[in-house]
Amino acid sequence: VNGVIEIPIVVNVLYRTAAENISQAQIQSQIDVLNNDFNATNSDYNNVPTLFSNVKANVGIRFVLDQVVRKSTKKTSWGTRDAMKKSAQGGLSPISPTTKLNLWVCTIGGGILGYAQFPGGSSATDGVVIDSKYLGTTGTATYPYNLGRTATHEVGHWMNLRHIWGDATCGTDYCNDTPSHNTANYGTPAYPHYSTCTGNPVEMTMNYMDYVDDRAMFMFSADQKSRMLAIFQAGGPRYSFAQ
Ligand code: ARG
Ligand code: ZN
Repeated sequence: VNGVIEIPIVVNVLYRTAAENISQAQIQSQIDVLNNDFNATNSDYNNVPTLFSNVKANVGIRFVLDQVVRKSTKKTSWGTRDAMKKSAQGGLSPISPTTKLNLWVCTIGGGILGYAQFPGGSSATDGVVIDSKYLGTTGTATYPYNLGRTATHEVGHWMNLRHIWGDATCGTDYCNDTPSHNTANYGTPAYPHYSTCTGNPVEMTMNYMDYVDDRAMFMFSADQKSRMLAIFQAGGPRYSFAQ
């Protein structure tokens, strides 16, 4: 890998209503959020508590909008079984998924804001899906998920990050510099929020890989950065993106 990794993003918009056919400005606002959050230029980065200032990280990965594909459909919701990624099922098949991050924007339904495929899966379904109401910061972006952090969280998964609570009580996210969390946090937790896991650590509720509101999440950790960069190294599952 020579220098900074730059990820081209293909945005696949599936719309039934005019509102779902989100604007170019809304799409660009999401690209801007990804660039800020992955390069520590988000305006709330300095809100990270002193306790975590030694582990907050500038990941240093850039994103660039490659192209936008739009398709009118009759579907009211797409679910979470990848139908939106398959033209044979009325969706849009990914474009160059081994070198470009495909992002599907549609109505998912079931209260799901977004979902992602981890590294190592089929390239035919690789990428992230974000509900059109939770993409970017303008247009149809809806409070309290109107700061583009759903995509930051999902791209974190796409780059091999686990939920900070490890999807279990005091579970692991395979990062040593993130505290154990009892479970997912929601809303805007008061600081400090203690876990009852071993050592009663202060939870890092402001991490992008928790479930808090967009305005309450504003950092990745150094070990999360290491996990993300590792997938782009030679032999890693996303090496093809780093060429
Ligand atoms: N996959 C999660 C969900 O659909 C995404 C959570 C994103 N959180 C956020 N504050 N934007 O619930
Ligand atoms: Zn998640």
